[in-house]
Amino acid sequence: MSNIAIVGAGHVGVVYAAGLAELGHRVRVVDVSLKRVAMLRSGRIWFYEPGLPELLARGLARRRIEFTTSYERGLAKARFVFVCVPTPTTAAGSLDDSYLRAALTSIRQNTKPPWPVVVNKSTVPVGTGDVAARLFEGEDMHVVSNPEFLAEGRAVEDFFHPSRIVIGSRNRIAGEAVAALYAPLRAPVVHTDPVTAEFSKLAANAFLATKVSFANVLSRIGESVGADGDGLAKALSLDPRIGAGHLRAGLGFGGSCLPKDLAAVEQLARRYTESSGLFAAVAAVNRAQRARIVDLLVDRFGTVQDRRIAILGATFKANTDDLRDSPALGLACQLAELHASVNVYDPVAAPQLRALAPQLVLFRSALAAVRGADAVVVATEWPEFATIDLLAVRRAMRGSLLVDARGLFDVEAAHRAGLDYFSFSTAGVRPHEAEEPLEAVAS
Ligand code: UDX
Repeated sequence: MSNIAIVGAGHVGVVYAAGLAELGHRVRVVDVSLKRVAMLRSGRIWFYEPGLPELLARGLARRRIEFTTSYERGLAKARFVFVCVPTPTTAAGSLDDSYLRAALTSIRQNTKPPWPVVVNKSTVPVGTGDVAARLFEGEDMHVVSNPEFLAEGRAVEDFFHPSRIVIGSRNRIAGEAVAALYAPLRAPVVHTDPVTAEFSKLAANAFLATKVSFANVLSRIGESVGADGDGLAKALSLDPRIGAGHLRAGLGFGGSCLPKDLAAVEQLARRYTESSGLFAAVAAVNRAQRARIVDLLVDRFGTVQDRRIAILGATFKANTDDLRDSPALGLACQLAELHASVNVYDPVAAPQLRALAPQLVLFRSALAAVRGADAVVVATEWPEFATIDLLAVRRAMRGSLLVDARGLFDVEAAHRAGLDYFSFSTAGVRPHEAEEPLEAVAS
């Protein structure tokens, strides 16, 4: 079992700390935020990730995890230093590696022989591993690129059941030592060079983004030709060359990875090839999904000004409290800019929303948010929305339009409740044809 230091207590760093501790390693996590460190020491996590609090509690109880703001203490015994710092997008669309450079410099200043192996988990501009290696030139210090493929909301599951472990190293022994840390997971390991490892992360996310936009274009075509989006996705997903993931049509992709990594690959394509149009189109399709819902509401009401629109779900997908680049939040803000009055309910993100988007009116339950609404948009696929009582929704609303932007309901169920129904996999808005008044339907 090894002594491992982790630099950066974010979504990736905390999952790796708790996961590696569970595998038996001793882990020290360094973060510059005193507040975060204090929370984590007492087992509290500043973001929502199913299963992670329990895993962290176990690691703390077994005394295998420690949190500190001191690089000196954190790195003191480390044989491996995992770098898990954020790499946000710059205004120009490329990845900002300034946190990474700062972390590498601090690592340089706080380590001495025998040198630890530096393991870079951050998503970085392609070629960063070699830049980092140059920073440590002259020392016998190896930098291994080992990208993470954790999806938020299922990060713990992804840690223990990785589809692959990618190790990019110019030094075989260092690469194998890193792979050995994960040996209990029995996952396939790809040994390659740092550039390929870094590129494989960006490429995977650009591919997933392409798949989502592909599904969204197909569903738009399906709307016109009368093809059923769900049936189409199922038929495609059973082809092992295509696979089941990321074929759900909806409001589009968001989050901290797909949009950012797509932008980085688009930039590389523009610089080195004539085919940057592919990735630009993927991003354009993604923007259009959101615009489609705005247009639909404007068409329906003439203007959304002073209309009450309820948005259910604000996070970029279910099972996370992450609002970064969230299509749901983007849509809510766009409607507020058009002077709609926007009611929002999200099962976990209310505290962050209050600070981030004060123009939205927040509610404690879905039914409270839909009260008096002219239209309801289901914008995130939270499981609790799928089982909502549509009749109660219809009764609480003023209007009758349900926009199912995440494909949770079927048209018959919506019609039975007296709702006009739109989803990306049905042909336009399908108005219910009420033969009897709503009260009669209810009884
Ligand atoms: C992604 C990758 O899955 C993960 O491997 C990588 O390490 C980080 O980036 P994440 O950003 O957490 O993970 O989300 P993911 O589950 O991939 O979903 C991304 C976006 O695509 C979400 O907004 C989601 O709602 C959307 N999506 C996903 C769809 O619109 N349709 C789908 O079928 C799947």
